[in-house]
Amino acid sequence: MTAITGKVGVTKRPGELGIHSMDTFNMMVPDLKVAEDFYRSFGLDVREEGQGLGIYTFGSSHRWASLAEGPRKKLNHLSFAVFEEDFEPIRKRIERNGVRIMDAPRGYCYDSNGFWFQDPFGMNIEIKIAEKSSPNEKMDFTTQSCPPGQMGSVSRTKALKVQPRRLAHILAFTPSVPESIEFYSRNLGLRLSDRQGDGICFMHGIHGSDHHLIAFAKSSAPGLHHCSWDVGGVNEIGLGASQMADKGYQKGWGLGRHVLGSNYFHYVKDPWGSYSEYSADIDYIPADQDWNAGDYPPEDGIYLWGPEIPQDFVFNYEAADADRVTPGAVAGAV
Ligand SMILES: [Fe+2]
Repeated sequence: MTAITGKVGVTKRPGELGIHSMDTFNMMVPDLKVAEDFYRSFGLDVREEGQGLGIYTFGSSHRWASLAEGPRKKLNHLSFAVFEEDFEPIRKRIERNGVRIMDAPRGYCYDSNGFWFQDPFGMNIEIKIAEKSSPNEKMDFTTQSCPPGQMGSVSRTKALKVQPRRLAHILAFTPSVPESIEFYSRNLGLRLSDRQGDGICFMHGIHGSDHHLIAFAKSSAPGLHHCSWDVGGVNEIGLGASQMADKGYQKGWGLGRHVLGSNYFHYVKDPWGSYSEYSADIDYIPADQDWNAGDYPPEDGIYLWGPEIPQDFVFNYEAADADRVTPGAVAGAV
């Protein structure tokens, strides 16, 4: 069961073609044991599968990510999901647009029922039929209070371990933000939510999705900046940051609140220089509404409040040394 359940059923925008979910992604990492410890500490259900690891959220059979071991960190592919009746029409549209359909990449792929191609910068993309894993309504957000005369908190030793509910989005690097907007709009049916000039953009699905299920930040090469995991409230974000710090993962950025997407956040740096984000209360764009996309200056659009952005926050470790984004060159990303 992969659909995010709630008060409403699966939502679909009639008469328009587009992917409905960011289904999963695959990343190569230098050491699976280290990855297992990081993502397990983060509160995810990490399972050994074949030669790699599957990343799940507890209580769900949906594999949000898969990891393979290799010489260096590398985002291998992005997998997007469509409704069954849209599979052939979207394939035909992509072929009509002149994009070459290719065989599934070898070596690290799990079972695939989809078709494959590359974006203009060589990122492998799969389109597959799968249940809608992006939410059909805005996810619950909880703030806890208690009546007068009662204790609102619990002892630190009794704090529950934070377990994210789902993969919320990923932020990928791209050599050209405008070209990525054009390619992913024309072929996958994604829509621009907001942008900061040609430095970063946020895109959503048309069938009901968060403000962004994928975002792109400018670099010289593709790569993964962060994967974001949805939790139910600010208290959980703080608890998650603490549970990671207790395990030795202190570096990151947060607690804060973004402007574009509006989500509360805390980013934890992983052992390869990218990040996993605890995220709560991100803006939601229903299937029957359009979003008025804005273009925001970086100094006014990155975060509403929070600590100063670390100088090395935006750094593409997947780019060749000379081509990495200079620390601080891009003012920030969500
Ligand atoms: Fe994010």
